[in-house]
Amino acid sequence: MDNKSYQDHFFNRAKIEGYRSRSAFKLIELDKKFKFLKNGKKILDIGSFPGGWCQVVKKTNKKGKVLGIDKKKIEKIDGVNFLVGDFLEEKSKKAIKEFFGTKIDIILSDMAPNTTGNKSLDTIRTNQLCLNLLDFSKEILSNKGVVISKLFMGDDFEEIKQTAKNQFKKIDFFKPDSSRDESRETYIHCSELST
Ligand SMILES: C[S@@+](CC[C@H](N)C(=O)[O-])C[C@H]1O[C@@H](n2cnc3c(N)ncnc32)[C@H](O)[C@@H]1O
Repeated sequence: MDNKSYQDHFFNRAKIEGYRSRSAFKLIELDKKFKFLKNGKKILDIGSFPGGWCQVVKKTNKKGKVLGIDKKKIEKIDGVNFLVGDFLEEKSKKAIKEFFGTKIDIILSDMAPNTTGNKSLDTIRTNQLCLNLLDFSKEILSNKGVVISKLFMGDDFEEIKQTAKNQFKKIDFFKPDSSRDESRETYIHCSELST
């Protein structure tokens, strides 16, 4: 499929299935592969605008507690709470911890900074977000918890891999079919904190 047909295919599917973003299909594929979305879970979705991932999460997690955070305001989704803020700021992390009040089961991140057009810079900035959330997961994730995060293939890939390996018992990488071939984007799945 060429790039235009690809864009149209997922755009149309998102429209038909009522998802706010094509990204929703990436989470669906990630869950098909790693099977982490279950009912009754406490889930944090970082970089959640416009809300496609939260829609997917809420379908399988009717009883659970879901919090989305983004710099941009997100239109309401039943059963999902939202915070508007920069995840990197301490006050956002404090608000997240206060919201759950306990350790949580899953951290999802599809965070991506505004692209500059400079591929190396965009990669570094995206991967810094991933490293930051891996660090935050030490404070808030339960021992059996799961992290799914976007990252870009680049020079700092090994650093992320090593950081995740030191922190978790299992790590895997997966690029969903719904992620464009030419994009450097991939996702890391981490489970079970090393004690
Ligand atoms: C690809 S979009 C997420 C799409 C979303 N997963 C969905 O399915 O609708 C990436 C988002 O990350 C957000 N973002 C980037 N850096 C952030 C930060 N430091 N704190 C909070 N959100 C951030 C952007 O505002 C943007 O909305």
